[in-house]
Amino acid sequence: MNRVLSLCLKFLAVALCSALVTAQASEQKSAAADPAKGAALYSGGDPARGITACIACHGAEGNAVIPQNPKLGGQHAAYIKKQLHDFQGPDRNNAIMTMIAKAMTPEDIDNIAAYLSAQRATPGVAKVKETAELGRKIYRAGIAEKNIPACAGCHSPNGAGIPAQYPRIAGQHQDYSVTQLTNFRTGTRSNSAQMTAISKRLTDDEMKAVSDYITGLR
Ligand code: HEC
Ligand code: HEC
Repeated sequence: MNRVLSLCLKFLAVALCSALVTAQASEQKSAAADPAKGAALYSGGDPARGITACIACHGAEGNAVIPQNPKLGGQHAAYIKKQLHDFQGPDRNNAIMTMIAKAMTPEDIDNIAAYLSAQRATPGVAKVKETAELGRKIYRAGIAEKNIPACAGCHSPNGAGIPAQYPRIAGQHQDYSVTQLTNFRTGTRSNSAQMTAISKRLTDDEMKAVSDYITGLR
């Protein structure tokens, strides 16, 4: 009886395992992204489908030089994908990106994310001396009396983030980061309960200080 039972369990385990392996293989197959196709779409867009070339705003290899446009080079693929999907729905609002993201297929998004995450993240330079200490303190230690956690806890001490959950923010333009913190606060961007809670406790001056500090992180 025990022997039959143990044989039976062995058989079940083998069957279950092979089913799982097959399922995983087909999942990997369908998820294979093509960075070369991503690069082509990034640089040329697809005007017939209403997709503007990303390079016009986000710069060569994702290194935007206009401070309102985010740098995307070296960003984690999972984060880029999440943002493009969020722009398609109600959780992240921006007139330009909503229009572009809605024209993209899931494959376009996977390909672009694979391309951008393989590019180099370019460093930036913090510019505002007077707020450097405040920015450093908020980033490294948070503000205990206002229940603001250290940014470093999630975005990592050097700002590289922790894939797949926490985005890279190091080197990002100050203007862009301030806009995002403001958008989290007002609800224009509501795709992170954590960032909504944190940004509601930051003053405008604190947002500017920590965002300038982030620009200089590397
Ligand atoms: C006309 C300028 C413009 C074009 C073209 C453009 N973007 Fe954007 N993109 C922006 C701006 C501005 C933002 C910031 C939006 C916001 O404030 O939420 C943004 C945000 C993003 C973000 C979110 C970044 C982050 O750190 O959260 C991603 C990802 C992105 N764009 C990808 C793309 C891709 C891929 C394309 C091309 C298919 C593209 N963009 C084309 C201007 C542009
Ligand atoms: C508990 C974890 C956590 C902490 C602490 C945290 N963040 Fe974030 N942050 C996130 C997550 C998760 C996202 C991505 C949200 C999403 O999916 O869109 C994010 C996104 C951001 C973005 C937008 C990045 C982009 O490319 O658009 C900025 C800017 C940012 N955080 C700044 C900060 C600052 C400044 C602090 C400290 C005051 C901080 N964060 C603390 C989790 C955290």
